[in-house]
Amino acid sequence: MAPKVILTRPLDPTLLEGGALLDRAEQDGKIQLVRWTQDKPVDRQWLLDELRKGGTEGLVCMHNGEKIDDELLDAAGPSLKVIATMSAGYDHVDTAALKKRGVRLGSTPDALTAATADVGAMLVLMASRRAGESVRAVIDGKWPSMPWNPLLLCGQSLKGSTVGILGFGKIGQLTLKRLLGFDVSRCLYSTSRPGVALDPSKDYFNTLATASFHGVEIRPAESYDELARECDFLVTCCPLTPSTQGIIGASFLAKMKPTAYLVNTARGPVVDSDALLAALREKRLAGAGLDVVTGEPNIGADHPLVLEPSCVVLPHIGSATVQARSGMSRDAVKNCLAGVGVEGFEWANEV
Ligand code: DGY
Repeated sequence: MAPKVILTRPLDPTLLEGGALLDRAEQDGKIQLVRWTQDKPVDRQWLLDELRKGGTEGLVCMHNGEKIDDELLDAAGPSLKVIATMSAGYDHVDTAALKKRGVRLGSTPDALTAATADVGAMLVLMASRRAGESVRAVIDGKWPSMPWNPLLLCGQSLKGSTVGILGFGKIGQLTLKRLLGFDVSRCLYSTSRPGVALDPSKDYFNTLATASFHGVEIRPAESYDELARECDFLVTCCPLTPSTQGIIGASFLAKMKPTAYLVNTARGPVVDSDALLAALREKRLAGAGLDVVTGEPNIGADHPLVLEPSCVVLPHIGSATVQARSGMSRDAVKNCLAGVGVEGFEWANEV
C-alpha cells in the first residue's frame, strides 16, 4: 500500500514546486495524501485526529505555530518515519523526541539563503537610514511640517564601517556579500563552529575571498565582547538554540556603540526585547531592524518595539519570495518522499 503522508498547508502547484511534486506523487498512486485544505495554520486537533487514525509515515509541516512534540509523535505512533518541515529553522521540533522514536527530520536550509540575506541587508539599510521613521512621517502627513535641516532624519553610513555577523553560516556569509557592495571596511563574525571554512562551491566564496584580497578585513571576532564593542552594524543570523537564546541581552547591548545598529533575521528570542527597548529608548543604541520578534505573530501596533521610532519591524518575511518558497516546498516534499521511501526521490537536507 502507498505510504500515507499528511500535508499541513495548501501548496499551490502552479507557483510552488513542492505542491506540483506532491500532486504528481498522489496522482501516480505513490502516496496517499491527506491535506489540510484551509489557507490558515493547521488546526492542532484536526492534525492529532488524523494522526490517531494510524498509518501515517510522513508529515510535511510548516514552522509557524506547528509544534512537533511528544503528544503529536505519540498520536502518530510507530508508523511515522519522517517529519519534513518547510523551513530552515527547526526550533519548533523536539529533536530529542524524534530521535527517541527513530523518526527522521528534514529541513530546507538552502532554498531561502538568498532571500533571507536580502532582507538582512535591507534591514541594515532601513535601520541605518531611518526608513521606518521616514515612511511613517510621510504616511502620517508630517512631511509638510518637517522643513529640511542639515541633520533631519540623518542616519549612519555603511562606508568604512565594521559589520558584525553573529552566525556566519550560509545566510550570514551571503548577507555580508550583499553588504560589501556598500564599501564596508571590516567584518567580524562569530560562529558556533569556529574554524569552519567557507564553502568554495558556493557563490559567496569568491566574493569574500576577493574582498579580503582587496583589503576588507574578514575575520572571526576574538570574543562576544569584541563583537559588541567594535561593530557599527550587527546582524544576527544564527539558529535559535539554548546557547543563542537571549545572547543579545542587556550586557551585550551595554557594550555596543551608541551609534551602532542591530539587525535580527534569526529568531526573536535571540534578542532580549526588553533590553533592546531600553537601549533604544535611552539612546545607547542608534536603531534596530527586526524581521523576527519574540511573541510573533502576536505583535500588535501597540507593541513597544513597533512604537519605538528607531526600530523598524517586519513580519518575518526573510524567505518571502515566490522563488524561495517554491524551493523550500520542493525540498520539504523531497525530504518527505525520500523519507517514506518513494522511489526516485533523494533527501534535500536531513538534520
Ligand atoms: C525558516 O525557514 O526558518 C524561516 O525563518 C521561515 O520560518
